[in-house]
Amino acid sequence: MQLATQGFHHVTMVAADAARTTAFYRDVLGLEMVKQAADYDDPGAHHLYFGDRDGRPGTLLTFLEWPRAPKGRPGIGGVHHTALGVETDEALLRWKRRLTDAGAHTSGPYDRGYFTSLYFRDPDGQIMEIATAGPGYAIDEPAEALGRELLLPPERIVRGHRDEAAIAALTWPEPVPEITPDMVLHGIHHVSGITDDLGRAGEFYEQALGLRMVKKTTNRDDATMLHYFWAAYDSKTIAPHSSWTLFGFQPDWNRARGGTGQTHHIAFRARDEDELRAWRDHLQSRQVPVSNVLDRTFYRSITFQAPDGQPVEISTDGPGFGPA
Ligand SMILES: [Fe+2]
Ligand SMILES: [Fe+2]
Repeated sequence: MQLATQGFHHVTMVAADAARTTAFYRDVLGLEMVKQAADYDDPGAHHLYFGDRDGRPGTLLTFLEWPRAPKGRPGIGGVHHTALGVETDEALLRWKRRLTDAGAHTSGPYDRGYFTSLYFRDPDGQIMEIATAGPGYAIDEPAEALGRELLLPPERIVRGHRDEAAIAALTWPEPVPEITPDMVLHGIHHVSGITDDLGRAGEFYEQALGLRMVKKTTNRDDATMLHYFWAAYDSKTIAPHSSWTLFGFQPDWNRARGGTGQTHHIAFRARDEDELRAWRDHLQSRQVPVSNVLDRTFYRSITFQAPDGQPVEISTDGPGFGPA
């Protein structure tokens, strides 16, 4: 059996205060609170689940409430940011106004070539992004041959050449008290992590998870840094909620430190428990230390680490969250 994940199942972050996190992700960002439960590994701790109305894989952001945890920071073996999707640039401007009025620090919208991006920090300092669906990865290479060559961005979108003052000044002209239909967030657009070895990481995500390289380019904010993209890709289309990107940092950069405002782990999808067990066998055959199959109530999971230390989980689509 050729194992290939369909994309992200969920991303789990650490928050200091469940009420504050709920006020932000539910009330400001408009995500559905799918579930609030005790944490499986630490029954005294809250675990919050946000996503779309049905709590579908690919839309889920979950938060462990650890009030006494130290502040985390991004670094090698950790996630830099998670992006949620919208359709249009206009929706991004509405989000910029709504987030700014809610007291969140924002930057952008930046033309990233493949999409437009607005960045902000959540109440714990976690870097988040809202990104547009298009124009997509096929603007500079054929859709059926993505990720084969290193493609450099046009200079006008690279830091040092773009008009930062003009970008900072862009916003929606009026307050945005309601989330308009075009602003509804469509789940995980991409997740971006940091590694110190793109070659080794790429081999791991390709061989162990069945993701495929879909873009080799450079960081728009640091032209000296490589930025590679992987996804669930069948040589025609890229599955929604499946883009995993890595920035190639120098090995002497700091390692990720767990804590509040930092991502705890990323989880990819398995169809069912049979497939999950096949993943486990597959990972073990590659000498990857992997957990037993864990019962996470709403899904079954296995956990392991990428070679750079990134904590990774594979979770089943079912049984799911049931009726809300
Ligand atoms: Fe991003
Ligand atoms: Fe998880």
